[in-house]
Formats: sequence, C-alpha cells, structure tokens
Amino acid sequence: MANPSLSQLFDLSEQGALVTGGALGIGQAIAFRLAEAGAGVLIADIDLAAAQETASQIEARGGRARAVRADVCRAEQVDEAVHAALAAFGRLDIVVNNAGIFPLQPVLDVTEETWDRVLDINLKGAFLVAKAAAQQMVQAGRGGRIINLASVDALHPNGMATPYNASKGGTLMLTKGLAVELAPHAIRVNAVAPGGITTPGSDAARAHVSGALRVPDAAILQGWIQRVPLRRMGEPDDVAKVVLFLASRAADFITGECIVVDGGYLLS
Ligand SMILES: NC(=O)c1ccc[n+]([C@@H]2O[C@H](COP(=O)([O-])OP(=O)(O)OC[C@H]3O[C@@H](n4cnc5c(N)ncnc54)[C@H](O)[C@@H]3O)[C@@H](O)[C@H]2O)c1
Repeated sequence: MANPSLSQLFDLSEQGALVTGGALGIGQAIAFRLAEAGAGVLIADIDLAAAQETASQIEARGGRARAVRADVCRAEQVDEAVHAALAAFGRLDIVVNNAGIFPLQPVLDVTEETWDRVLDINLKGAFLVAKAAAQQMVQAGRGGRIINLASVDALHPNGMATPYNASKGGTLMLTKGLAVELAPHAIRVNAVAPGGITTPGSDAARAHVSGALRVPDAAILQGWIQRVPLRRMGEPDDVAKVVLFLASRAADFITGECIVVDGGYLLS
C-alpha cells in the first residue's frame, strides 16, 4: 500500500477528540489545532463559560466543537464528558489529558489537602479520563490515541512544586503503563513535557511567586528565560503542534514516549 500523502497524515476529519482543560492556555491551543485538522473537539473544563467561548471560536473558523462542564477528578463527570463526545461526533479517537493545576509552595507548607488536590486533578484525573475513553475505543475497535500533558518537572524537580513534580512524574509512568496495556487495541499513549509556556495558569503562578518572594514579576520572567537556550517562553501552540503530531498518522509507530517541548531548558 502506498504511503499516505503529507495532507493525509495530518487529516483528522471524521474523527472525534476530547480535550480536558481545553478552555484556556495550552488546552485551548490543542483544541484549535485538532479542530483545524478536521476533528470534532469536545472541550471538557470546569470553566464552562470559557470552554463555550473556545468552542464558539472554533466554530467561527469552520471547525466542529462542543463544550461541557466536567471536573476530571469526578468519575461520573468524566463518563458524561466521554458520552457527550460520542453523542456530538459519533466516535472518540483522540483524548488529551491536559487539565492540570500547579500551586507553588515550599514543601513544608504543603497541606494534605493541597497534595490530594494536585494528585487528584493531575494524575487521578488523567487515569479516569484515559480509562473511560479507552473503554469506548476498545468497544469501537478502531484504536485511538491518548496524549497526556506531563512537564519538564516530571524529569527535573522544580522548587516549590513537590506535589506537582510527583504528579507529573506519575503521569509519565501512567503513560507507559497505559501504552503497554492498550497497544493490543491499537491505542497509542504518549506524553508531552512542556517547559515554561505563557498561559493564564503560568502567569498566575509567577505572580504568586513574585508576591511571596517580593521579586518583580518581570525579573522572575527574565531569570527563567535566561535558563532557556532558545531564549524565550514557549507559546501554547508550541505544545499544540507536538500534540497534533502525536495524534496524527505521522506518529503511527510511537507509543509510551514523552516529547519534551522546552526550548532546551533541560539541557541547561
Ligand atoms: N504553562 C506551563 O508552563 C506548563 C508547563 C508544563 C506543563 N504544563 C501542563 O500543561 C497543562 C495546561 O497548563 P496551562 O498552563 O495551559 O494551564 P491553565 O491554568 O492556563 O489552564 C488550565 C485549564 O484547565 C482547566 N481545569 C483546571 N482544573 C480542572 C479540572 N479539575 N477539570 C477540568 N478542567 C480543569 C482550567 O479551567 C483551565 O481552562 C497542565 O497539565 C500543566 O500542568 C504547563
């Protein structure tokens, strides 16, 4: 059989996708790219108004999108989101576990509640979504792709982020475990590990550190950029393009892998 053409490789039309935390930031950029490639995209987010706004922007550009309110750490809301994707697009082929939080605190100040919340959203949520989606993918028998948002902090610990580092380290092993177990069903599972990306969440985190350390926000930003060999912050679309690659047929033989998208940060 002839190899697919370049446009066929990245053609996701007919397919259904679910992006958690897709209302804003990196998740929004991922939703835009998947929709541009032709997929119907269900945005599942705790911020319904922002999710609806993102879905409207996709539709205004001629794409297909729906929005639902769902908290990824609530199994029944995850099931509802998966069924909403099936109802909207007739199938579910691509799932992106993007919803995540990153509270920054010295480890000695971290409460049990904070630990549970970070692990619940970042790690348990990814498991719940992957499981609910994979059940549908296995039943449909068409395979699928699951892409998990890890972080450079999964590979190199960031200060003041012990629960986050642990949750993202767990995300990498969740990715590998799912990849092995779901491979017989032609479901590929991969991760992306972003470095510093400009988003509403990372802006808020930096503002929090700026206040706590009494260091100007701009100084913290410049300090970070100086550690990045490519000398800039990442944009959400820097990550979305890699997620699109992993969701596409261009990545047909990749599973259990993690692609770092950090401008070289981990090299420094
Ligand atoms: N921004 C970065 O520098 C960076 C770096 C590495 C990894 N990441 C990871 O990328 C992902 C997205 O980060 P971002 O910077 O775009 O975040 P963000 O805070 O800007 O946006 C996160 C989105 O997730 C939603 N969300 C939060 N909790 C949720 C829940 N329980 N259920 C459903 N939706 C929920 C929010 O409403 C929001 O729309 C996260 O997993 C984050 O850990 C981000």
